[in-house]
Amino acid sequence: MADEPLEIGEISLSDWHAHMGTMTEAGFLSIARRLPSLVRQALTLAWRASPRDTAATIVLNLLGGVFTAFGLLATTGVLTALFQDGPTPDRVRAALPSLVLVAAAAALGTAVQAGAGWAQSRLEPQITRQAEERLYGLTSRVDLVAYDDPEFHDSLQRARIRGVSMADSVVSSAVDVVTALVGIAAVAGVLGVLHPALLPLLLLAVLPDAWAAVRSARMRYGTLNSLIPAMRRKWIIADLLADRDPAAEVRAFTMRGFLLRMYDAVARAEQDVMLRLARRQTVARLVGEALGGLGSAVVYVALGILLAIGAIPLAVAGTAVLAIRSGQSSLANLLHSTNRLYEDGLYFTDFLDFCSDAERRLAAPRPASPPERFERISVVDAAFTYPGADGPALRGVSMEIKRGEVIAFVGENGSGKTTLAKILAGLYEPDSGSVLWDDVDLREVSPEAIRERTAVIAQDHTRWPLTARYNITMGTGKGEPALHAAASVAGAHEVIAELPHGYRTLLDRRFKDGHELSGGQWQRIAVARGFHRDADLLICDEPTAALDARAEHALFERIRGHSDGRTVLLITHRLASVRYADRIYVLDHGKIIEEGDHATLMSLNGLYAELYTLQSSAYR
Ligand SMILES: Nc1ncnc2c1ncn2[C@@H]1O[C@H](COP(=O)(O)OP(=O)(O)OP(=O)(O)O)[C@@H](O)[C@H]1O
Ligand SMILES: [Mg+2]
Repeated sequence: MADEPLEIGEISLSDWHAHMGTMTEAGFLSIARRLPSLVRQALTLAWRASPRDTAATIVLNLLGGVFTAFGLLATTGVLTALFQDGPTPDRVRAALPSLVLVAAAAALGTAVQAGAGWAQSRLEPQITRQAEERLYGLTSRVDLVAYDDPEFHDSLQRARIRGVSMADSVVSSAVDVVTALVGIAAVAGVLGVLHPALLPLLLLAVLPDAWAAVRSARMRYGTLNSLIPAMRRKWIIADLLADRDPAAEVRAFTMRGFLLRMYDAVARAEQDVMLRLARRQTVARLVGEALGGLGSAVVYVALGILLAIGAIPLAVAGTAVLAIRSGQSSLANLLHSTNRLYEDGLYFTDFLDFCSDAERRLAAPRPASPPERFERISVVDAAFTYPGADGPALRGVSMEIKRGEVIAFVGENGSGKTTLAKILAGLYEPDSGSVLWDDVDLREVSPEAIRERTAVIAQDHTRWPLTARYNITMGTGKGEPALHAAASVAGAHEVIAELPHGYRTLLDRRFKDGHELSGGQWQRIAVARGFHRDADLLICDEPTAALDARAEHALFERIRGHSDGRTVLLITHRLASVRYADRIYVLDHGKIIEEGDHATLMSLNGLYAELYTLQSSAYR
């Protein structure tokens, strides 16, 4: 049995390897072309986070460069004085003024750079906060249907796992790039003054390294990107192995071995890909460093020749060595930070791409508002297909609810009841057909406005890791009486009264003093939440599946009494409870096949009559 091949859903292991092979590798030039826009984006981000710290970082870094150049030029003065003919004390005395300048430039340069470093590290947390707020502001606003789209999840994962955390390091790297460029400009200026032939030689020493660094960054990014679907799968399995919710079933169904085997299959394939990457990166780095060493040798030989043929005096050659050293370290910094900026920039682009994708998935602003007090909600010929699904979940559905009515949806599992309810709640939009509140088409109304007026007791309600109070009020403040009234409807009040801290008890066992409820107790809270919202339209999707007989009876009595004047849409498999509905719609494979009140449907002798008879015979 251990050899039986594993089904790992959408992921085929061989696909990743194939993807690795066809990975595109950008050339050095295309990277150089992208740098300015990356630096610009990073600085825009920084400016938005804090104009003051951004300005301080840039100005202080520029000043640092000025002091570097100044110090190098003063060094030539020192060396010239020292290499003069004459007695040593005189030469030292002659060098003193230049020495003071060198010391002053060094001291000022250090102070200014410390200031720049401070401003830069102040920027980082501010940028991180802003980027995270932007990300989660968007994830919670996109149309619900995006969450049924695997591409959205991939792109969200990329943005969330690495992209968003790259915002601050992209800015840091961009600042480092600018700093290194300023340092190089200072050195290049000094070298240019000393002897122009030294400039191209300097470049020669470092370009091979640049090539290797960029190549290796590209490889890494391409590899990690192709691994994203696999890693997601691995994280999902890891959650199953480590989270609290599935912990009991993992044990009850003795799933441990099976899950670990699945985890291992994905992790091993990922490991192979990473090992291959490490090898290719090492080769690239070795080649780069060998060529770089060769370049350095050429630089020093050339300097020796210039000195030998008397093209430059000894003092200048001495300064040139110092300047080349300083230039090389600036260039090394430039490479390092360019490389980082490029690599982080690739991830950061994922974040920016996700943001623009998410913005496209936001509903366009719509001016119309739903009627203050609807008389009738109607669905006309609505069809809906989940993204990527094989067939439609709803096909040509028409129905209506009048103000104050209790309407019921019944039908077998998967017939489309929840989907239709979500369309009525403004959570999904039909692909064709329309939903009307009186004469207003919901396509012209902001979905938010519909949701404000609708309360949903969801079939798969969330167990919010919040206090009991927030689990019912959802952060809206309507006061204690409203809270208690809503809690009483489904018997949630008596559950909460027994908790150690009453309404202030945290309903999350993962935290100290957190408390867990039973399935039915959770459902009572979910029902209370729906009633607390006090909306025009109350949608109850299987509100009693987990309730005991007494709580169920009390709730249905409440609904039957039209829940204090509310309009109610009830979805339930307990057919005895829908007898009293004003109208019952029977769904089958995404279509409404029967409608009418209980007596009408029974006399039709169709699906409803069959299901009802089946259920009631159990009680006879
Ligand atoms: N998020 C989704 N993505 C793709 N398909 C979905 C999604 N949710 C539901 N479906 C499919 O749509 C169809 C209708 O599902 P729906 O949840 O509306 O059924 P239901 O009548 O509420 O069933 P139940 O009685 O089990 O609650 C089913 O075939 C289901 O597989
Ligand atoms: Mg359902």
